[in-house]
Amino acid sequence: MKAGIDLISFYTTKYYLDLKTLAEARGVDADKFHIGLGQHRMSVPPPDEDIVTMGASAALPLMERIDPESVELVLFATESGVDQSKAAGLFVHELLQLPSRCRVLEVKEACYSGTAALRFAASEMERRPGRNALVICSDVARYDLGSPGEPTQGCGAVAMVVNSTPRILELEDACGLHAEDVMDFWRPNYRDEALVDGKYSAKVYLTTVARTWEHYAEESGRSLADFSRICYHLPFTNMARKAQVQLCRSAGANARDYGNAMIDESLGYNSQTGNCYTASLYEGFACMLDTAEEDLSESRIGFFSYGSGCMGEFFSGIVKPGYRQHLLTDRHAALFSDRTELSYQSYEDIFNLKVPADGWDYVFAEYRTGPFRFGGVSGHKRIYEKMG
Ligand code: HMG
Repeated sequence: MKAGIDLISFYTTKYYLDLKTLAEARGVDADKFHIGLGQHRMSVPPPDEDIVTMGASAALPLMERIDPESVELVLFATESGVDQSKAAGLFVHELLQLPSRCRVLEVKEACYSGTAALRFAASEMERRPGRNALVICSDVARYDLGSPGEPTQGCGAVAMVVNSTPRILELEDACGLHAEDVMDFWRPNYRDEALVDGKYSAKVYLTTVARTWEHYAEESGRSLADFSRICYHLPFTNMARKAQVQLCRSAGANARDYGNAMIDESLGYNSQTGNCYTASLYEGFACMLDTAEEDLSESRIGFFSYGSGCMGEFFSGIVKPGYRQHLLTDRHAALFSDRTELSYQSYEDIFNLKVPADGWDYVFAEYRTGPFRFGGVSGHKRIYEKMG
């Protein structure tokens, strides 16, 4: 395929809860979260941040590096949508002052939809040389307080510019697909928190690794030896370790030869943010590019994308020579070093704050945010503001 990821940017909120604090509050051994799940902190969105502000904040530095007038497609992937009808991308379109000659829509299938958006954007841009697509994956992962899913909560967004002359990753055509109607994780329209059959969801995730690899291997004729690194959807980082063992088994490869070295560099950011649903896979990819000491130019990266419900895809791409000059590594490092730790009580207070649904006017208190904030609601309309 003559298209792929030209630029990639990650954003998360300025507040986090240390999982030691959560472990104390829940009377659980902190090692269960640190060692058992591989998680250390979870990003928490203050009341004036949501998928729109996070998505726009991830995209802003990219718009400073391309001509925003060249953006003719905005695909916003999320499973924590803020409106049943209007695409969240339209709020971002306004915040970023993108051209009106642009196609904007929202894409949904749990955590998988970011991948659908990326591949649709790449197919579209392949025949539109000189034009750009903006793909945004943005989510807030929420489970009930005190539930097993709680320590895997998190939030964050990834924005990617996609075009026919990518500077970071050229996508390859072969892909392995698996779709199946299962109830492993879902969120009915009347709930803010997801429902999940946790152990079953992990089992279906692993079966989907096997099914998608079988299809990909058939399509491409490749083996694990053809890959330099693998990035996985990261609900928590230890899921990737289990997935890598499964992949080795499915590919008939020895887990000692193709083990953690293929995945370790992709896990650091997620262990500090928690699950970012649609953004998690690409957060992992950005982390790997930012932190790998080895120059990954010309190497093949495998991607496993999973969305509960369920939809999975295994696909691949080749890293472009010179990609390092186009990374936002320093910006990402600054995000992580400039966060405020929450006490348990502040976390619970923020968790319990809901957007009022009565149609009256509300102005939200200012918390620490990025370049955009969700300022309030008026007549059931969300109001977004650019800071500074
Ligand atoms: P749990 O059942 O409370 O935890 O929640 P557990 O008892 O299975 O323990 C977790 C691990 O910690 C185990 O390791 C324990 O042995 C270990 P494992 O057997 O898995 O290797 N452990 C300890 N280790 C060291 N010291 C200790 C200790 N105690 C225990 N003291 C569960 C785990 C994943 C079920 C829960 O967090 C959950 O429900 N999470 C949400 C669902 C989820 O993340 N599913 C993953 C696959 S589905 C997916 O990825 C899609 C998703 O992103 C959504 C979408 O697509 O839309 C979720």
